[in-house]
Amino acid sequence: MASSETALSFSRLGREIASPVIVDLMARALANSDLLSLAAGFTDNVALPRGLVGRFAAELTQGGLDDEPLQYGQNQGRSRLRELSCQYLAAQPGECAEAFDPAAMFISNGSQQALYLAVQALCDPGDIVLVEEPSYFVCLEMLRGLGLRPIGIPCEGDGAIQADGLAELLRELDSAGERSKVKAIYLVSYFCNPSSRSLSLGEKRAIARVLLDVGYEIPVIEDAAYRELYFDAPHPAPSILSMPEFAPFPKLYLGTYTKPFATGLKIGYGCCTHSEWLEKILCIKGHQDFGSAHFSQAIIERVLDAGLFQDHLAFIQKHYAEKAFVLDHALREGGLREVGWKWHQPAGGLIFWLRAPEGSDLRMESVFCKGCIEQGVLYVPGELCSASGGLWHCARLSSGALPPNKLREAAGRFVAQAGVLAQSSGSSGS
Ligand SMILES: Cc1ncc(COP(=O)(O)O)c(C=O)c1O
Repeated sequence: MASSETALSFSRLGREIASPVIVDLMARALANSDLLSLAAGFTDNVALPRGLVGRFAAELTQGGLDDEPLQYGQNQGRSRLRELSCQYLAAQPGECAEAFDPAAMFISNGSQQALYLAVQALCDPGDIVLVEEPSYFVCLEMLRGLGLRPIGIPCEGDGAIQADGLAELLRELDSAGERSKVKAIYLVSYFCNPSSRSLSLGEKRAIARVLLDVGYEIPVIEDAAYRELYFDAPHPAPSILSMPEFAPFPKLYLGTYTKPFATGLKIGYGCCTHSEWLEKILCIKGHQDFGSAHFSQAIIERVLDAGLFQDHLAFIQKHYAEKAFVLDHALREGGLREVGWKWHQPAGGLIFWLRAPEGSDLRMESVFCKGCIEQGVLYVPGELCSASGGLWHCARLSSGALPPNKLREAAGRFVAQAGVLAQSSGSSGS
């Protein structure tokens, strides 16, 4: 606070809110081009759809359109965009045509806003949201910012949910008298940020079964931000909206046009199966902004209507597959596996989830992290992706933004620090 400013009495949110780490990571990446950021989850400037956006922006600014895109639009979002989005989603592997209903969809300022609105509608401070361990760190910060308690579901080292662990956790919450506080479960089910893995049909079924067995018919939020960014083939599991096992649950499916199209247009969406929950979400959105950027929506709508989204996807899928290959190769070639680090080669998305030998400390204030920053490379410490504050030995890297030569250089700097860490702790490949 500047000394000349009057002291304000802030709300609980105003008092407790801190700047999200993501904002800091993005600012650092943008401010210093010598610092190679494997942290910020940017898409690649080279893969942005300049031609398509330019063409449709020109068409949309000619004027005389019934649904003037430079004017305010509907709070829920453009109806044609919702219709086209539902058609697109219904055509994905395993989906039922009737699972995606334009009337149940709302357009948002990225899927991040949809998530925030959905959580705000459900939760009061002190409430619990169950998350994977690891989970999307921006969501964890957002939940904590709202005074909520994200609780990690027991998972394997690679992020796979342990069904028995989930059942045990739910029973523990029961015994602790917390059942009524558990307001939702949040799953990042396709090429997850950060674990990079996708939930199989069997895993999804097991989650539904356990929740029902223990009597938790709680809202299920499925975040599919990276679903379109597969490398060779779409992940075969349908969304929870098409799975009969999830029929008893209130459901929200979140998707986005930022990652698979243009991050800067910042358009995402939610598809909510519960009419009252949707109504509340729309009320909050109405209070917040009474509709997402109409012009951005209209551009995406045109792209979908012209059947050009698929072509763009085919291009970026190949592009991001190549970049993931470059990063994977550079980490291997550098000898990261030889010093005991593990990771799965992603089959889609922008993220790598690396696990250093147990006992390693890669937290923000660790010698390793400081060393990386000194050497000019940034990553997201795994701890930030952990509801419990664990996962100190993990790191999230993104292959999305840097060009291949910089990815190799960044990987080289990172691996060099891993070498230093291995020497100092005496660890070797195992
Ligand atoms: C898992 C996940 N969900 C949601 C979002 C929000 O994306 P957007 O608001 O750009 O749609 C992101 C962004 O990185 C993400 O990684």
